[in-house]
Amino acid sequence: MQIRRLAALAFASSTLAQTYTDCNPTNETCPSDTGLNLSTYSVDFTQGASDDWNMTYGSVSYDSSGAAFTITESGDAPTMQSNWYIFFGVITVLMRAAPGTGIVSCAILESDDLDEIDWEWLGGSVDEVETNYFGKGNTTSYDRATYVDVTDSQDTTHNYTIEWTSAATTWYIDGTAVRTLAYADALEGENYPQTPMRVKLGLWAGGDSTQNAGTIEWAGGETDYDDGPFTMYVEKIEITNYNPGSTYTYGDKTGAYSSIEVDSSDATNSTSSTYASSNNGTDISSSSNSTSSGNSSTSSSSSSTTGTSGASITVAGSIMLRVVVALASSRVS
Ligand SMILES: *[C@@H]1O[C@H](CO)[C@@H](O)[C@H](O)[C@H]1NC(C)=O
Ligand SMILES: *[C@@H]1O[C@H](CO)[C@@H](O)[C@H](O)[C@H]1NC(C)=O
Ligand SMILES: *[C@@H]1O[C@H](CO)[C@@H](O)[C@H](O)[C@H]1NC(C)=O
Ligand SMILES: *[C@@H]1O[C@H](CO)[C@@H](O)[C@H](O)[C@H]1NC(C)=O
Ligand SMILES: *[C@@H]1O[C@H](CO)[C@@H](O)[C@H](O)[C@H]1NC(C)=O
Ligand SMILES: *[C@@H]1O[C@H](CO)[C@@H](O)[C@H](O)[C@H]1NC(C)=O
Ligand SMILES: *[C@@H]1O[C@H](CO)[C@@H](O)[C@H](O)[C@H]1NC(C)=O
Ligand SMILES: *[C@@H]1O[C@H](CO)[C@@H](O)[C@H](O)[C@H]1NC(C)=O
Ligand SMILES: *[C@@H]1O[C@H](CO)[C@@H](O)[C@H](O)[C@H]1NC(C)=O
Repeated sequence: MQIRRLAALAFASSTLAQTYTDCNPTNETCPSDTGLNLSTYSVDFTQGASDDWNMTYGSVSYDSSGAAFTITESGDAPTMQSNWYIFFGVITVLMRAAPGTGIVSCAILESDDLDEIDWEWLGGSVDEVETNYFGKGNTTSYDRATYVDVTDSQDTTHNYTIEWTSAATTWYIDGTAVRTLAYADALEGENYPQTPMRVKLGLWAGGDSTQNAGTIEWAGGETDYDDGPFTMYVEKIEITNYNPGSTYTYGDKTGAYSSIEVDSSDATNSTSSTYASSNNGTDISSSSNSTSSGNSSTSSSSSSTTGTSGASITVAGSIMLRVVVALASSRVS
């Protein structure tokens, strides 16, 4: 089964090969990224929307189940991202995947030079989740995915955690490690995700009849929208940022973690829980509990550049995001 999928995905990649980023720091000089200047952060979407997250395509609604990403008809592909980046750390997503043949739920990390760490759920495979990664947008080989057992991913909320360091990345489900990728095992680090990442959440229809045959096959078959609507629920996200900072700057074009300059001069070792209560989007509760001064565990820069990169939907590297871009441009044209 896995071989069939991998073959299908390799085929899919040949037609979805373009990757997009507002500014690729391995190729040109880019504005600094805005960093999460806290060492720990959480958001509880069962309480409503948060200003820390923006939609990049479509919309979501909020209820006691969390942020609801829904596909009702062809062309729907709700996608959301954090407004800041993190640089190594632990990212936990408490969520339920969407049902539906060909429907793909995604929780991923992605950087400006298209490093990527993924969780992806196929709506037709309720007891399975895919882990994947990419380094510097290198999609020449699709042998990186693994498929991991998880019980009832659509009706049961599970804790999907990624622990990401310069040495290794470990995927956990409900606290149990299900995969570890060591730096050296990713082409001696060349393909290892190692640059500041945003958190991105989304839902798309890999089984839409307009997708190519390879994508539809990988996604598990053609989507029948009469079976919908299909909804993914994200309840809560918890983040530990190992390098809190107001900005992250690529010091050169290598895309190496050692080249990243962290402006931690105004970062605080603090905990924030930011969410809106049942007022549909206005942030009414934001607490920052500063317990010590900034942590400059990597090179520190005094740069005051304001990071503004990457707000548009064209920041994309994963198949999900490439498809969203394609949908967006086909709607525009
Ligand atoms: C690098 O920049 C050049 C010139 O702007 C552009 O044509 C090319 O597509 C870029 N490559 C990547 C990988 O971003
Ligand atoms: C991309 O990764 C493959 C292995 O997955 C490797 O053979 C190839 O050299 C890499 N390409 C670049 C440009 O790093
Ligand atoms: C999720 O799992 C991680 C890793 O085991 C753990 O640190 C965290 O406390 C868990 N969070 C919740 C809300 O269960
Ligand atoms: C800063 O963070 C790093 C990474 O977590 C940690 O190893 C280091 O001890 C921290 N330094 C201080 C001063 O807290
Ligand atoms: C931390 O970042 C937030 C959001 O970007 C910003 O409003 C706040 O002023 C920053 N705090 C410090 C101490 O820099
Ligand atoms: C933040 O403070 C806590 C408690 O003092 C400490 O355990 C932790 O390592 C610190 N984290 C960072 C990033 O400085
Ligand atoms: C929030 O929005 C939902 C859906 O639009 C609505 O049903 C609910 O009444 C709103 N709640 C508040 C407090 O405005
Ligand atoms: C801040 O931290 C202190 C000490 O851990 C704790 O007693 C206090 O309740 C915290 N305040 C907030 C707003 O989290
Ligand atoms: C998020 O969206 C708001 C409202 O559309 C916009 O004003 C803001 O600039 C966006 N923030 C980022 C970081 O893209």
